[in-house]
Amino acid sequence: MQNGEYSKTAMGTAFMRAYHAAHGRPPVFEDLLARRLLTPEEYRESEARHLRALQVFHPEQAAAYPDRAAALAYWMQNAGAPAIVLGRARFSEELLERAVQQGVRQYVILGAGMDTFAWRRPDLLAHLEVFEIDHPATQAHKRQRLREVGLEEPEGLHFLPLDFSLDNLTKALGRSAYDPQAPAFFSWLGVTYYLPWEAILSTWRAISEAAPPGSSLTFDYLDAAAYDPVRVSRRVQIMMEIVVRVGEPMITGFDPETLAADLASEGLSLQENLDPAAIQERFFAARPDGYHACEHAYFARAVVA
Ligand SMILES: C[S@@+](CC[C@H](N)C(=O)[O-])C[C@H]1O[C@@H](n2cnc3c(N)ncnc32)[C@H](O)[C@@H]1O
Repeated sequence: MQNGEYSKTAMGTAFMRAYHAAHGRPPVFEDLLARRLLTPEEYRESEARHLRALQVFHPEQAAAYPDRAAALAYWMQNAGAPAIVLGRARFSEELLERAVQQGVRQYVILGAGMDTFAWRRPDLLAHLEVFEIDHPATQAHKRQRLREVGLEEPEGLHFLPLDFSLDNLTKALGRSAYDPQAPAFFSWLGVTYYLPWEAILSTWRAISEAAPPGSSLTFDYLDAAAYDPVRVSRRVQIMMEIVVRVGEPMITGFDPETLAADLASEGLSLQENLDPAAIQERFFAARPDGYHACEHAYFARAVVA
């Protein structure tokens, strides 16, 4: 992220959820509140930005869809990022729901961005203490936006500002109402891409130190091939070019083959590692529209060993 500024990709993923809530039938993931966290002007600007991207990267498709709404629908369904954003949210919240049914009472949202869980799911919030952890600039921006749109911070929701590259997650949790003796569910969606490898390892380590065995972590990642100009798919390459332009370059990918060992070295045990084919099968099969799982993108679940 650019110095001291809130995350533009967090606003971008909120737009993808908001757009999909309005147009995706059936929804891969339904976030009817995302739109409230964007001003009407931001929403319109995002639409225009996506349409410009279609023109720049796929001029032939842009020409084939002279109708603005159809062109936007084509782009949102076929670009890489929306499928990743929607699929990972569904993956993680389904697992969270199961964990809550099994008695988990703490949910830590790492790199929360404009996540609306605490307002969207009062049914689950009633059972949980929720800790939103994010870069201080993004979190301050979100809290200001919540005030502006009249969404009150509910009881049971705690905000902890933290920079994964600089600060210690275990200590930050230690200064809060978080209970290190009680099982917890951590999600870390849309963040690993942007961090150096050392920050990823230290965050995994912090989770395994801060939570008792059996506690869960969900996260998504790009495979290392995404960073190889010869092997990367066109739409992931385009996604990477777009985030460079907003000042948040993707810098890190994982090797799916060594992920289990990498996690184990930090005290976590890999339980699920969904590749694009498995994601397609689970969340996008038989859709009537064009959304489909994105090459190079994986969804994973690990537990504290
Ligand atoms: C693409 S957004 C994802 C937001 C949300 N989890 C989602 O799925 O929509 C990336 C998030 O990572 C956070 N982030 C990026 N680098 C960070 C860092 N070094 N420390 C803390 N948060 C960071 C940003 O503030 C932002 O909220």
